[in-house]
Amino acid sequence: MRRPIIGGNWKMNRGSPESAREMLQELIPLVKKVKKVDIVIAPPFTALQEASVVKVTNIKLGAQNMYFEEKGAYTGEISPIFLKALGIDYVILGHSERRNIFGESDELINKKIKKALEMGLIPIVCIGEHLEERKAGKTEIIIEKQINGTFADLNKKEIMKIVIAYEPIWAIGTGETATPEQAAEVHQFIRSLLNDKYDEKVAQSVRIQYGGSVKPHNALELFQKADIDGGLVGGASLEAESFAEIIKAVEKTI
Ligand code: 13P
Repeated sequence: MRRPIIGGNWKMNRGSPESAREMLQELIPLVKKVKKVDIVIAPPFTALQEASVVKVTNIKLGAQNMYFEEKGAYTGEISPIFLKALGIDYVILGHSERRNIFGESDELINKKIKKALEMGLIPIVCIGEHLEERKAGKTEIIIEKQINGTFADLNKKEIMKIVIAYEPIWAIGTGETATPEQAAEVHQFIRSLLNDKYDEKVAQSVRIQYGGSVKPHNALELFQKADIDGGLVGGASLEAESFAEIIKAVEKTI
């Protein structure tokens, strides 16, 4: 069975060392007994060093982005080598905010995924449709295009290391979550694509998180769906208590 995974994407919200320390001092005791769930927090780069106190706990560290080159004249970018040096295990790639605000293409995200895998980082790769696309009945077309583009040329071994986060853009930061049925339908579709592109084993082993306004009050019904293996949480991951409640919701489904 797939091991559930909950990620906390702090985005550009909690970035000072003090603020990260404060949050983690609260979170660590709240979740220390959680054994069967992978817990990942992804603070801004400026708080990663401070957040690395989690290394001795059951919480793993993730970065929110990285570049696909290891070194060189890339002002403002972060090398995967720097992330490895901080003991980071995960990296969020292709978040819709990176795609939409910073113009990241499937091709660029694909290069980043390959590099992350080469360096031993686990990519959490985000895909999802805009509201207009959903309304026009194009959700599946968009998801398929993103999967073909971002996962181009990845072999079975590689794809099985990746975590996919289905994050419908209309549900991110809006308080409007996808219904468990809407989310489960897309998760099943993603598995069917993985089955077509690879095989049944791949389709059944890749973990697929749901992201978009996951809160303590709606987490359980989302995670009860068989194809939803946890969540990538934005707003509700900023406070220890709400994030811990979401982690405990997924634990109940095991
Ligand atoms: P919210 O939980 O704030 O909607 O953000 C979801 C998200 O984008 C996580 O990556």
